[in-house]
Formats: sequence, C-alpha cells, structure tokens
Amino acid sequence: MPEVRCVILAAGQGTRMKSNLPKAMHPLAGRPMVDYVVRAATAATGERPLVVVGYGRELVEAALAGRADFVVQKEQLGTGHAAAQAAEKLTGFRGTVVVLPCDTPLISPRTLADFIATHERAGAAVTVLTAALEDPSGYGRVIRSADGRVTAVVEDRDATPEQRAIREINTAIYCFDSQTLFAALPRLRRDNAQQEYYLPDVVELTLADGRPVHAYQAGDPDEVSGVNNRRQQAQAEAVVRRRTLDRLMDEGVTVVDPETTFIDDTVKVGPDVTVLPFTFISGESEVGPECRLGPAADIRDSRLGRECVVQYSVVEKSAVADRVTIGPFAHLRADNEVASDVRVGNYAEIKNSRVGPGTKISHHSYIGDADIGGEVNIGAGVVVVNFDGLRKHRTEIGEGAFIGCNNNLVAPMKVGPGAYTAAGSTLTKDVPADALAVSRERQQVHLAGWARRRREKANKEEP
Ligand code: UD1
Ligand code: CA
Repeated sequence: MPEVRCVILAAGQGTRMKSNLPKAMHPLAGRPMVDYVVRAATAATGERPLVVVGYGRELVEAALAGRADFVVQKEQLGTGHAAAQAAEKLTGFRGTVVVLPCDTPLISPRTLADFIATHERAGAAVTVLTAALEDPSGYGRVIRSADGRVTAVVEDRDATPEQRAIREINTAIYCFDSQTLFAALPRLRRDNAQQEYYLPDVVELTLADGRPVHAYQAGDPDEVSGVNNRRQQAQAEAVVRRRTLDRLMDEGVTVVDPETTFIDDTVKVGPDVTVLPFTFISGESEVGPECRLGPAADIRDSRLGRECVVQYSVVEKSAVADRVTIGPFAHLRADNEVASDVRVGNYAEIKNSRVGPGTKISHHSYIGDADIGGEVNIGAGVVVVNFDGLRKHRTEIGEGAFIGCNNNLVAPMKVGPGAYTAAGSTLTKDVPADALAVSRERQQVHLAGWARRRREKANKEEP
C-alpha cells in the first residue's frame, strides 16, 4: 500500500456565505465545517491532514490545533494555487495525495476509504470522486468520452449549455499520485471565467501526458454536497442532525419528534432517555440514563446524572447529579453543582452555587453564589442578595435549614444547619444553627373594624 496524505483546502473566505467568518468555521450542529472534514480524513487514513489556511487562518488553526498541520495560502488564487502551497510542504513525499475541500462536511470515512482503495487498486494517476445530482447547477461537470472515459472537468461558469445538462459533478475530492500532482500544478493557467488556478484542470494535463484518469461515483450524493451558501448550510445541518438522532435512537434513546429535536453530535446520551419536542442539547453535554428531557429543554455544556427531569428550562455549564427535577421554567446559569434528588421548580434561577442532596428550591427564587447544604427548603420568593453594587459575596445555608417565603439573604451571610428564618425576613446577619431568625416589621392593627365600617358606608350610598 502506498503512503497517503490528505490535504484539505480551507483558505477561501466563502464569498457566497456573505460573512466575515471564514467558510471553514461556519458551524453545523455545533462544530465548524472543516472539523468534520478533518475527522473524516483522519479516520479514513489514520494520518494527520495538512490544511491549507488563508482567510481567517488564526480561527481555523485554533479550532484544529493539535489535529492537523497547516500551510498558508497568502492570496486566494484558486483551488489549484491552494493545492500548490500544500505540494511545497509535501516535497519528497511519494504516494497518494488526497485533496478535499473544507465545504463537503458530510463525507464519511467509509466512502473516503473506499475511494482511496479504489484509486490505488486501479493504479490511476488521478481519480475524481463524482456524484450524480438531481440539480447539478453550480458544480464542475465531469465530461466523458463516448466510451465513458473521463476527459475533463468543466466549471459551471465555463461550461457550454450542453455540458451544463450533464448531471455528473466533480465533488472536489480527488486522489492523486503525488508525482502526477506535483508535475501538473506548476502548469495550471488562469485562462477561465474566474481567472483562477483550477485544481480540476490537473485532469486534462494528466490525460495530455498519457496517464490514466479515473472517476469514482459516490453512492450517496448527500455525502458530497458542497456548502457554499446559508441555504446549503441549513440543508447540511439537517442531515448532520438526523444522523446524530439516528445514532442515538440506535443506542436506545427515544426521540419523540426528530423534526423538532436538536442534539449536537458532541453530546453523549445514555440509554432509555426520552427526549420530548423542542429540546436542544449542545456542546460538551452528557445525559445519564433514563432522563426525561423536554418539552423545551435547552441543555448546554452540562452533565446530568440518571433519571433527571427537565421541562421548559435552560441548563448551562452545570453539573447535575441523579434524580434532579428541573422546571418548568427554571434557569440554571453557569457553574452550578447540584446534588442528587434536588428539586428546582417554577421561575427559579441559580448561578455559581452548590446545592446539597434533597434540597428544594421550588418557586420564584434567585440563588447566586451560594453554598446550600442537603435537605434545605428554600421558600417561595427567596432572593439571595449576592451583589452589593460593587462586589459579589457568598452565602452559606447549612444542612436542613428552612428559609421562609420571601426572604432576602444579604450576602455575605450564613444560616446555620437546622435554622429557621421567618417569612418576609430581610436577613443581614448570620443565623446560628437551629435558631429562628425573624427580621421583619411586627404586624400592628391600627384601625380595628375599619373594613366593616367602610363596607357599611358603601352599602348606604348605593341607590
Ligand atoms: C469546486 C470545484 C468544482 C466542484 C465543487 C464541488 C474548482 C475550481 N471547482 O468549486 O469543480 O464541483 O468544488 O463542491 O476547484 N479554496 C482555497 N483557496 C482558494 C480557493 C478555494 O483554499 O484560493 C478552498 C475553499 O476554502 C474551499 C475549496 O477550496 O474549501 C473549494 O473552493 P470553492 O470556491 O468552494 O469551489 P467551488 O466553486 O465550490
Ligand atoms: Ca464549494
């Protein structure tokens, strides 16, 4: 087997995306497009690919750091020019050079591996990965002779009307014998509609040298569709999303409505999890077995243990243990550690806090920068006053404490284990363990009978 190197062309801006972000960095289901191509290339060959970067190169290099080598194309003069920059880095390499664009993110390692194997088995100088599309517009067309041999690839803009009618397209994925590629690249010319160096022109140069050029047609056209604009991005996203959901369903996850479920392929979901409609799970999230998520759960970069329930709620960058119930309408903002059997209910917001096992925060609360023990009851309307206008302070609530309804806990402060605080209190001082703290105006009745007299007066005035 000859050696293989993959080259990924990712220097273009992606003019048709109408974006400042380089095309390579546009995300699909949470990961940049180029990341998909790098993973497929690495999986198919076992080698680290060489990525040609240019426009927005810092972003691309940062996203792929440690997983690819880079070469810079200073001016974007076309795919042939981009490949030439890579060829300079590969001087001395003998074997198969696989070239891929950064904008065919759906290519599978299996198709790629089959393609490379076919090229090598046939001993071709160049093999073009092609596909038959219902709508080939915009793509380079594969021109064949009467006996079916590939004779050229013609860009859409340079094609005649007859050539435009051809449905077999160039996927822009190729295998080259290294010597053939290195010899052809310096001979490319810019005499075309876009005045660019076209990599597909290597086909004609190779044929002119009398060397064999083959085509290999991909079975699944979805895998090789290019993402050049936001519409194609949305179509590719739908395919990625569906693939992820199919995999999760195969692994034992119930997805009630795949059309309205959005799970990044970076997410891990345990068996017997049920995902209800309008649920989003993204980033580095992990969901334990038998959780029930949704309707309308939005879980980002968070870990959930087993048998958790999340309804109509947002959970961000938090670690949640087993059997925790969240929502409806709760918000776990970043950096929470929530222990098992906790209940976070309606209109509760929690941020940068630790919550002990079995604690209940059931209604209308704000908990910020707090350390709360286990089996604590937080009454309705409790607010932790963590910010004094200048600084944030922490609040500590001991195990088994009972915080009455509508309390303000002005941080920094501590409520000892087992303590009670009376409803309506604004607490500014520490409360010792097992004490009762009352910090509110004593109720007074100034006008006994006032309400009765008022009613009687009103009745008399009625006609
Ligand atoms: C290219 C092919 C076309 C094929 C289509 C498949 C050429 C000339 N055309 O067209 O035959 O049907 O892909 O999707 O190759 N790039 C650089 N540097 C440059 C220019 C481009 O790195 O100077 C990179 C881009 O970032 C992109 C890739 O090369 O990843 C392809 O460029 P793009 O402009 O998308 O080519 P298409 O017009 O789609
Ligand atoms: Ca393209």
